Amino acid sequence: MNDLAHQLEGLLQPWQPLPWLAPLQQCCRQRLQRWQRDRKCQQYLELLASLPPAPAGLTCDFTGAAVRIGRAGQLDSAAMEALQLALFGLRPWRKGPFELFGLAIESEWASNLKWDRLSAAIAPLQGRRVLDVGSSNGYYLLRMQAASPALALGLEPYATFFHQFCLLQHFACLPRCLSLPLKFEELPEMTGFFDTLFHMGVLYHLRAPLDSLRALRRCLRRGGELVLETLVIPGEQPLTLTPVERYAKMNNVYFLPTVTALQIWLERSGFERVRCIDVSRTTNAEQRRTAWIQTESLEDFLDPADPDRTVEGYPAPRRALLLAEAR
Ligand SMILES: C[S@@+](CC[C@H](N)C(=O)[O-])C[C@H]1O[C@@H](n2cnc3c(N)ncnc32)[C@H](O)[C@@H]1O
Repeated sequence: MNDLAHQLEGLLQPWQPLPWLAPLQQCCRQRLQRWQRDRKCQQYLELLASLPPAPAGLTCDFTGAAVRIGRAGQLDSAAMEALQLALFGLRPWRKGPFELFGLAIESEWASNLKWDRLSAAIAPLQGRRVLDVGSSNGYYLLRMQAASPALALGLEPYATFFHQFCLLQHFACLPRCLSLPLKFEELPEMTGFFDTLFHMGVLYHLRAPLDSLRALRRCLRRGGELVLETLVIPGEQPLTLTPVERYAKMNNVYFLPTVTALQIWLERSGFERVRCIDVSRTTNAEQRRTAWIQTESLEDFLDPADPDRTVEGYPAPRRALLLAEAR
């Protein structure tokens, strides 16, 4: 628990003193203390403790669709068995794919497709301080490493995904990359600290999206870049849909704007040079059931008689990617 707080301090050493570092460390300690009393988290910690050490000469490749850590044959069969047990115990693997010591993890989402849509369009990450809000198991934090950011900090409040990142980082040992077990709303004010902020697949889960966008703006430096991805509805008008109850079986979806409405939200929240770089319907090439998840997936969320609709009768999932600069 102190370990994470110390890692954070070490990671941020080049930019100290930082008035918000001690409160941020305190938030992390409190979250981990709470998780220590949780049976599921105790199991995750036992799985992580059972992992073999990273072998000498381990290499990683962050440039391909699958994040590759280590090579087949680098771990003996007992070590591979412990690794497989840990990976399976940490299901569902929603984001990926990964290849660990030759073992392929076919995650529910082919997250490489989203990365391909955005990576050439964003400001180059080299030397930048990056925050990834809702970083899940860190797939994008790892893909970013190919561009050598000065800092890649993730926020992931969901215990399963946070511990998946811990497993990956146990082997990858990346010196300028860390995930914190927190929601963005739990952070102290980190005014103007980040150069790039990723906020993907999170906005529709928030009850007050405009307040959140304004808070995101505050932690970017002037001219810093927001990479925003969220569910949208079709149409040209500046309109927003709020599901009566569930959307695609999710009970925590609040606001689905048109791209036009989203652009207005951003402009009214302190961003300029707002541009939409992609709108894509989610297909089962991108989200599907695999052996690495034990839950439903896209095909279960769509109306079998009309795949243009969710089971609730709303427009089927489509996601927009927008870039914007902090004013
Ligand atoms: C739909 S997933 C998207 C993951 C990844 N960003 C992507 O685009 O593939 C949303 C993630 O954000 C996390 N999350 C939800 N609310 C959050 C918040 N307020 N702050 C930080 N993370 C949040 C969830 O636990 C989940 O892992």
